[in-house]
Amino acid sequence: MAKKTILDFQSMVSKGEKIVYLTAYDYLTAKMQERAGVDMILVGDSLGMVSLGYDTTFPVTMNDMIRHCQAVRRGAPNTFVVGDMPYMSYQVSDEAAIANAGRFIQEAGADCVKLEGGGPRILSRIRAINEAGVLVMGHIGLTPQFMGQIGGYKAQGRSAQAAMSLIKQAQLIEEAGACSILVEGVPTAVGKAIAERAGIPILGIGAGSGTHGQLLIYADMVGMYDNFTPKFVKKYANVGEVLTGAFAEYVKEVRENKFPVDAEHTYKMPEEEIAALAK
Ligand code: KIV
Ligand code: NA
Repeated sequence: MAKKTILDFQSMVSKGEKIVYLTAYDYLTAKMQERAGVDMILVGDSLGMVSLGYDTTFPVTMNDMIRHCQAVRRGAPNTFVVGDMPYMSYQVSDEAAIANAGRFIQEAGADCVKLEGGGPRILSRIRAINEAGVLVMGHIGLTPQFMGQIGGYKAQGRSAQAAMSLIKQAQLIEEAGACSILVEGVPTAVGKAIAERAGIPILGIGAGSGTHGQLLIYADMVGMYDNFTPKFVKKYANVGEVLTGAFAEYVKEVRENKFPVDAEHTYKMPEEEIAALAK
């Protein structure tokens, strides 16, 4: 299938078709997701937790993101790939934001970049990146790069006032030129209210079924990342258990000298050659 464009996503929204979005950080996972028919892949800065073993997304660098985005692009050449702008790659200035967004396009073959927040400076970054010809996705609600201010991994927009403020942010982000917005960790009614008012695709993670599409962190939904599992994650498989079981079986068989002993997994040599070797 041909790679979907932002026009395809807009037309999916107008037809009421859901956009399917997953994170990936490496070649193998991206390849499987493309095969499975995922519409859009996010190379998230959740890379920090999922693949690099940090507690937060803060230590993730542009070079980390570029390296992993390249791998995902190689695994999923026909899927729309979004590169997540890491902490401090866009906060300082419009110029830095444009340059770093450009790296995702030039060096990693991304189709779009994503950045967090809805304040005036973020709106300026979105405008600047968009004017440089790069598609930008906004990200509001539970935004991990604002964790200090949010005070933990908590759902956002749970009062009418807080919800109205998110709806307003979404409208400003759309006006600033974003091609889409990701809404994270809000009640279903809020995800729906934002999507109903928007003229661009609204994607949700932990935002209920009223958004135009759904995102999950792949390592959560296949049961690989078990340090912490948010309420909104549905487990579609227990890959962590499957892998741990396979590793444990291998450990046992090697220790008991049961692997590799069968003909299927060993190379043969003519008997006379073996005899000559013994001399
Ligand atoms: O980094 C990421 O994977 C994200 C999602 C959790 C929204 O930004
Ligand atoms: Na992120």
